[in-house]
Amino acid sequence: MAMCRAGLLGSRLPHPFRILCRQMSTEPRVAVDRLRQSGLLRTQGLIGGKWIDAYDGKTIPVHNPATGDVIANVPFMGRNEAINAISSAHEAFTSWSKLTANERSKRLRKWYDLIISHKEDLALLITLEQGKPLKESLGEVNYGASFIEFFAEEAKRIYGDIIPPTIDDRRLLVLKQPVGVVGAITPWNFPLAMITRKVGPALASGCTAVVKPSEYTPLTALAAAELALQAGISPGALNIVFGNAPDIGDSLLESTKVRKITFTGSTAVGKKLMAGSASTVKKISLELGGNAPCIVFDDADLDVAVKGTLAAKFRNSGQTCVCANRILVQEGIYDKFASAFAKAVQALEVGNGLIETTVQGPLINEAALEKVESLVKDATGKGADVLVGGRRHSLGRTFYEPTVLGNVNNEMLISSQEVFGPVAPLLRFKTEEEAIQIANDTNAGLAAYIFTSSMPRSWRVSEALEYGLVGVNEGLISTEVAPFGGFKQSGLGREGSKYGIDEYLEIKYVCLGNLKEA
Ligand code: SIN
Repeated sequence: MAMCRAGLLGSRLPHPFRILCRQMSTEPRVAVDRLRQSGLLRTQGLIGGKWIDAYDGKTIPVHNPATGDVIANVPFMGRNEAINAISSAHEAFTSWSKLTANERSKRLRKWYDLIISHKEDLALLITLEQGKPLKESLGEVNYGASFIEFFAEEAKRIYGDIIPPTIDDRRLLVLKQPVGVVGAITPWNFPLAMITRKVGPALASGCTAVVKPSEYTPLTALAAAELALQAGISPGALNIVFGNAPDIGDSLLESTKVRKITFTGSTAVGKKLMAGSASTVKKISLELGGNAPCIVFDDADLDVAVKGTLAAKFRNSGQTCVCANRILVQEGIYDKFASAFAKAVQALEVGNGLIETTVQGPLINEAALEKVESLVKDATGKGADVLVGGRRHSLGRTFYEPTVLGNVNNEMLISSQEVFGPVAPLLRFKTEEEAIQIANDTNAGLAAYIFTSSMPRSWRVSEALEYGLVGVNEGLISTEVAPFGGFKQSGLGREGSKYGIDEYLEIKYVCLGNLKEA
């Protein structure tokens, strides 16, 4: 299920759901009641197959960023809960890893089917706690489910090798075995898909997991876990704890039972996890921040470039690691592109994600809004032009106007920092060499986009870009079947695709010796 089916360019909502959404956007309780009836509004953590409160009874509220309403109160867990979750995962590993690949595959497939049959409720939950428009949430559910389906299939294809021996009475074998207990720390911007992209391959390969979702969006994680239990994922194979993030993180890092850490989030936290994994020498996968260049060449098809850049920039209101962060436009097409792009951005409707026409939701919190504001202020103070937007939205709360800044240059903070919001800075360039130089002049290396009609240039520039993902004439390229991950400080390892499962496997060499009969 390619990501490009979802989001800004996505299709209409299913009819009965559309009617319900109209009601829910005016009466938020209707949405929460619907979720309660579906059995998916779980408000406790999950340890060893049991739903539990924090041991000291502490709770934290989960807010709807569009309205400020409290959706639910959930446990504020810490070290003790994390340690018990690790023990449960460790115990469950013995039996889960011994199931046949076929059996694990069947249970994962059932989990996939349940996610798909509950996709409207899961999407509703994502919109309520994260804020993205329902169409994008439905896209995320399909995207998230696709990792479970893909790795259910891959479970059956974890092959080893037989190596020609160097001594004739020996046989040399390579086995691939699960690493063990996995600690997965996941972000709020994709509350479902960033969990399934990690837990899918972990469970498929025979690992068990302790997941710490973001405290902003734990409800989607809990709903997914409820469906996992219904699908027959063994008690203890998937545990969910959240609350005191530093304490839970430290417990995962310090435990010798946890053999792997996988994380999606900021580069700063990723570096801490990398350092913290050293004392127990854990395997690690990191999917960290980006600073994606989007290069529009003079020979680009203008409509394709505008549509693609819009999608690459404004998905999830600019809150993805692969969002276009710097839009480099060649001088010959600059004016035409800037005016067509500004017009398209002006038309983006901002609002509560439950309203059908909304394509831009709120930012996750006040800190995110303040960061966007300060980057815009810095850029305009240094001479950038505001082509569209440029301020808080009249809806208040954490809504920000979709914004285009013209004549941005390297002196401005916005050209080197990850914006993570709905602001598109346009930078002018003259030559292909200059564009490549600017694009690569960063410590990040996750995603890059180019728009050109020239096939030789597509190859040349794709190869020259120091990035893990390159979109050519496409702004939405994420899919479960292709590897996702970054160069440089954007991370380590790959998620999704046939490469993604290797991150959860150990390689064992077995030498069978003295095979000659006496
Ligand atoms: C992310 O923002 O971390 C993930 C985006 C994607 O999977 O496309």
